[in-house]
Amino acid sequence: MREFVHYLLFGWYPYLAVTVMVIGSILRFDTNQYSWRSQSSQFLRRKQMMLGSNLFHMGILVLLGGHFVGLLTPIGVVDYLGISHQSKQILALVAGGIAGIVAFIGASLLLHRRLFDPRIRRSSATLDIVVLVLIWLQIALGLSTTYWTLQHVDGREMVNFMAWANGLLTLQPGSAAYIVNTHIVYKLHIVLGLTLFLLTPFTRLVHVFSAPIWYLLRPGYQIVRTRRGKGAPPRAALPVGTPVYSGGSASARAMTEEVQ
Ligand code: HEM
Repeated sequence: MREFVHYLLFGWYPYLAVTVMVIGSILRFDTNQYSWRSQSSQFLRRKQMMLGSNLFHMGILVLLGGHFVGLLTPIGVVDYLGISHQSKQILALVAGGIAGIVAFIGASLLLHRRLFDPRIRRSSATLDIVVLVLIWLQIALGLSTTYWTLQHVDGREMVNFMAWANGLLTLQPGSAAYIVNTHIVYKLHIVLGLTLFLLTPFTRLVHVFSAPIWYLLRPGYQIVRTRRGKGAPPRAALPVGTPVYSGGSASARAMTEEVQ
């Protein structure tokens, strides 16, 4: 039974998670484009959000890039380049560790802001909070793997993870066998990572795909805040936090709010 669950989780679940993420994100874009964004709460506790968001995004981009290259590069290529398994393991440990700490501090600031500021808490969807908690947990689990990785800096375990990921990439679910004896912390980390993939189309995580595309294709426009003066509505007429724009198209305005 244990073996069956292992093959289900590490042989087949990855295909389910990636398929749901890709097809779900395309369908969401196709059917419900205007919900495709990360809900903004930037006007509340702006400083904490900027610091948290910058640290989180810097760390996470390095981590995801590192995971992608580190896990999916064929071992033959690493050997061909003459990089020893030990050097690669130490590089992953140091670079991943630093990026992980930076991302963890950022995620903690964002989570604290969302949970403990009553106004932000009220304006947050439950799923926004759940996703942030899961990401926080995922980084914490990832960082705690370093304790076990330090027990085998020769890169032995890392080669097993690479063989597993490469096997899946070449459509061999049986490659789950490579990580059958690995420590439970790694396994929990991988399953939660896959679950985050699976949840992407249903949550704000979907902006992972839209943000870079919209940033690159954004039209040139300038947003100018209207000076209050003759003819401007009195401040009391606008709800607190309402942005005031003049110039720019409606779509440009909508996009500005989306990327915050
Ligand atoms: C399905 C997706 C994922 C898989 C298969 C995966 C796998 C792994 C593995 C095998 C390690 C240990 C590396 C080693 O020491 O040799 C690791 C470490 C780590 N992971 Fe992930 N991970 C995934 C997603 C994520 C995500 C989404 C995050 C962040 C939110 C993350 C954050 C970390 C951190 C901080 C470490 C420790 C530093 C490092 O060694 O890079 N992982 N991950």
